[in-house]
Amino acid sequence: MTAVEAKQSAITSQDPRYEEIFDLISHAKLMGVDLVENPFPMLAEARAKAPVQAGTLLDILGIQNRRMPMFEVERPHFIALSFATIDEMLTNNDVYSSSVYYEFFPTKQLGKSILHLGGTEHRQYRGTVQPLFTRRNVVEWWQPTWIVGLVDELISTFEKKGKADLNQELCARLPMHTITRAFGLPSEDALDFRYHLMRGLNMQISKEDRAISEEVVSRLLARAILARRASPGNDVITRLVAAQFIDEDGTRRVLSDDEIVSFCKLIIAAGGGTTWRQLGITLVALMTHPEQFEAIKKDRQLIDAAISESLRWHNTSPHFFRLTTQDVELGGIEIPKGSIVEFNLNAANRDPARWPDPDRYDIYRPQQRHLAFSSGPHTCLGMYVAQAEMKVAINALIDRCPNMRLDPDFETPRVTGTLEMRGPSHVNVIFD
Ligand code: HEM
Repeated sequence: MTAVEAKQSAITSQDPRYEEIFDLISHAKLMGVDLVENPFPMLAEARAKAPVQAGTLLDILGIQNRRMPMFEVERPHFIALSFATIDEMLTNNDVYSSSVYYEFFPTKQLGKSILHLGGTEHRQYRGTVQPLFTRRNVVEWWQPTWIVGLVDELISTFEKKGKADLNQELCARLPMHTITRAFGLPSEDALDFRYHLMRGLNMQISKEDRAISEEVVSRLLARAILARRASPGNDVITRLVAAQFIDEDGTRRVLSDDEIVSFCKLIIAAGGGTTWRQLGITLVALMTHPEQFEAIKKDRQLIDAAISESLRWHNTSPHFFRLTTQDVELGGIEIPKGSIVEFNLNAANRDPARWPDPDRYDIYRPQQRHLAFSSGPHTCLGMYVAQAEMKVAINALIDRCPNMRLDPDFETPRVTGTLEMRGPSHVNVIFD
């Protein structure tokens, strides 16, 4: 097999791990948690009672039969549900600290990462990688170098069949291979890498199995860093190797291998799963609202609105946490220092105080800022990459499969999942 064929088959392979990793229903089983088919009525009812409440989201929704480490930390718990209170928390990161992810959650396994840092340290570390993720760098580098070619390759694999499960054949593969290739890791390693990265974070398997998976990930990354130090390429690791970290006193230094490994793990974990599911949600929204799909086909300018509205309407990754660093009042509730405050972005983004008829998917809504990519200092670093992947994919589907519609031989696709991870399991379409 030639190198090109190996790369191609890695992208289109029928490896059963695709089904295992990229199916929300089997993922929930793997994690030992129940599916929540439609959390929105419960979230709306809870938000209508009070924007901030004592307890965990599970307590408030009356869901008892699941065990997730983050809901079980023995601390006072609160939950914020309205746009205004969540926005207030997110922009006040000194009081609502992200250190919660390091102190209590499996994300600790990612090592020192911008996700949990705060203040100046967070600004300094984030500043080192930020230039790679600006809107301009996405348009000039990510999109032409990685995203466009990959979308073309993926659509070529099913275009002639006249039908596809877009979840498995496009959505799952695009972000994982984009991010792996952009990091300069071989496409052949992409699935192995993601499989072990996610296993390393899975608290439902034994510590020993997690350690084996962490070892695989660290070995692959260490090998790639060594190779890029010896021979720079046109990829993210090469740029991280060359990046300048500026200390508080203005001293410049390069990042250590450990720091680069942590950045890689966080960015690859954050970038490989979220966009998979959000692209699926956007396609479900468009396929089940055919008149809006017709509208974006006629006017491609509307694709941005279709993506933004899908992020507002049903965010794939809605549930996050903070730790209070002082006594504080939020939404009329006194929250003591050292409490865990949960927040649900899907509750915020369907707050009727901000969006009339919030449950409706409507690309013609007047554009307003939503919180799907968070807000404040921890605003999603990869948001322009995610938006570019979704936009290029939707444009290419319209160009190459213009007559795309739901496959009547399959159940109408729906967004499902756990409280923390939402998406469709299948999006079966036909085109002729
Ligand atoms: C539709 C897809 C995506 C969604 C909905 C999403 C959502 C989010 C949210 C809500 C946060 C903030 C978490 C918090 O405040 O605690 C976040 C942070 C982050 N995201 Fe994304 N994300 C997406 C895609 C991506 C991609 C493609 C990448 C990388 C290429 C990425 C990298 C990151 C990183 C590194 C952070 C941490 C930023 C920091 O703490 O300063 N994300 N994302």
